[in-house]
Amino acid sequence: MSLSGFAHRFVPAEEPGAPTLLVLHGTGGDENDLLALGRMLRPGAAILSPRGRVLEQGMPRFFRRLAEGVFDQEDLARRTMELDEFIAASAATYHFDPSRVLAVGYSNGANIAASLLLARPRTLAGAVLFRAMLPFEPASTPDLSGRAILLSAGKQDPLIPQALTARLADLLREAGAEVTLSWHDTGHGLLQSEIGAAGRWTAEQF
Ligand code: MLT
Repeated sequence: MSLSGFAHRFVPAEEPGAPTLLVLHGTGGDENDLLALGRMLRPGAAILSPRGRVLEQGMPRFFRRLAEGVFDQEDLARRTMELDEFIAASAATYHFDPSRVLAVGYSNGANIAASLLLARPRTLAGAVLFRAMLPFEPASTPDLSGRAILLSAGKQDPLIPQALTARLADLLREAGAEVTLSWHDTGHGLLQSEIGAAGRWTAEQF
């Protein structure tokens, strides 16, 4: 089904009052990829999983890039607003509480979630971001007070510069969010152990 132009999956909550996980895949993934990850992180939560609308050599992404790690800023800004509209339209269609949406993103999906936090600070209640980096430097510091954010990063990640993950964490803290930055002894791929740690963090926060 398509909503606001996004192919997506929606899995209703199995537990009354549970949050909704906005699950965002990496480059080349789709709306089915991270459903299992979402279930592991917060069993019983609703899951909203859109497919990125940009194609890079046939691979879905959430925004265009000019080269690896070099983002098309105009496209990023536009796609971030489209995602914001999709969340609002989905809340109206599927009847979930728009004030209790938690992003779970991996790589390109984590980067658009970071962009959403910076550009639309009221949209997300929190985020679990695997392999995220600063997507853009905001002109002014947003107000992210009351938001809990976990950044789970790989010490040997060849695609995500460590300095840009650290800069994202600093900026989110300056914005008033409660940020946990955890570094793991790995590269771009996810470890079972960090998924377990992210699940414990999510259970405590949401
Ligand atoms: C991005 O383009 O968002 C990052 O480089 C991560 C990736 O998708 O490879």
